[in-house]
Amino acid sequence: MRRRDLFKAGAVAGAALVLPAQRVLAAAAGTPVTAAPFTMPLRVPPVLTPVRSTLSTDYYEMAMRHTDVEIIPGTTTRVLSYGGEFPGPTIHALRGRRVVVRHTNNLTEDVVVHLHGGHTAAEHDGFPTDVMAPGESRDYVYENQQQAATLWYHDHAHHLESEHVFLGLSGFYLLHDAREVALALPAGPYDVPMLFRDARFDDNAALVYNFGDVEARNVILVNGRPRPFFPVAARRYRLRLLNGANDRAFKFSLSDGGELTQISSDGGLLPEPVTTNTVQLFPGERADVLIDFSRYQTGTQVVLRNEFGESEETTSVLRFDVGRPARDFSRVPRYLPSMPALPRASVTRDVALAFDLSAGAFLINGKKFDPDTPMFRAKLGVPEVWRVTNTDPYDIPHNLHLHLVQFRVLDRDGTPVGPEEAGWKDTVTVWPGETVRIAVTFTGHTGRYVFHCHLLDHAASAMMARIDVVP
Ligand code: C2O
Ligand code: CU
Ligand code: CU
Repeated sequence: MRRRDLFKAGAVAGAALVLPAQRVLAAAAGTPVTAAPFTMPLRVPPVLTPVRSTLSTDYYEMAMRHTDVEIIPGTTTRVLSYGGEFPGPTIHALRGRRVVVRHTNNLTEDVVVHLHGGHTAAEHDGFPTDVMAPGESRDYVYENQQQAATLWYHDHAHHLESEHVFLGLSGFYLLHDAREVALALPAGPYDVPMLFRDARFDDNAALVYNFGDVEARNVILVNGRPRPFFPVAARRYRLRLLNGANDRAFKFSLSDGGELTQISSDGGLLPEPVTTNTVQLFPGERADVLIDFSRYQTGTQVVLRNEFGESEETTSVLRFDVGRPARDFSRVPRYLPSMPALPRASVTRDVALAFDLSAGAFLINGKKFDPDTPMFRAKLGVPEVWRVTNTDPYDIPHNLHLHLVQFRVLDRDGTPVGPEEAGWKDTVTVWPGETVRIAVTFTGHTGRYVFHCHLLDHAASAMMARIDVVP
């Protein structure tokens, strides 16, 4: 039922809508290419090295450009890349150490870079109209004054973000801190970021972006490779799962029904590890899970499944090939950081998410995104509760994301959320008809930010709003 809804989301969007941007999108030629499963090994995106470092700061440089990469074996696909990589190179950051990234736009369209989940000053947050034109560069400054978390960076250009991300503009930004290091989680080659997304290819293996084209995006990529296999040692791993798809939701499980231990959500470690059989991620969301492969015999193959898949191709997304045992001094942490007491909210806001047929757009509170007009003004440091309701008449799920802040999910239709949602979140799923309450306090920075649906085709349509944080 819910799985069908996800596809209805795509069908409605595809049939009824024209992106209110300038462009007319060419129809795809030929039949989409698919790829045989488990033929290529998982690739981990390379780690970017600083061009220089000082006592306080690491400086990085990346140029966005058109790059030909091998995605479908034996062919090349032109993507939009950060630094020639698909997905972009991984940045490792340490709490309290500043990172400055000089991004250069060597593409042919405007771009702007956003650090998703970052507690970032407004001028560095990637407001959709703060674009870099082709040929321009700019420095993004990240202070990293927040706890360890799996963050990611991606394009956020007004009305273009969904196509740009689809064509390749996203990458990992892994923030570490001393407290997390002290937990002795699996590290180094046993700490693996995995970006899951879908894609559509034409018969020449070119990526085909059509707005709202959810059903045709039938090739699942993990770190840029179609349904790879991953040779693992028979020991514990930390997998950092990111849903980097535009519109597709994933619900992960292991083919043998085996346990996953979820240790974090979007904004960092959970208050306690959660032993589970499934992990659900809508676009933009992250979860770090521990899997102990020492429970399997050498030679065992375990498939990572997507329970939301509509076909075999979109269900069996990755295969773990268990090899020999390896030394393992990692632990499943027993004591994770506890959550502070919830402050009493003095402001309540209502947010309604829906597609509107007469507007031909996805709207927030009946309005299209207007970068010049704030929908809300939030006072710095004042606790708020947001009641986010999915009022969509077409039963389309939405996934609300707030910039600048990590919030807490209180309840869904009055029912307190489970332990997997009890930690820090920056993106929250709201099923059709549902009301989700979240506790939000903006701190640290004032200025112009956005919140939006992270189904990026919806965001590019108009499902985004400006919020000004004021002193
Ligand atoms: Cu993942 Cu506004 O972003
Ligand atoms: Cu964000
Ligand atoms: Cu949406």
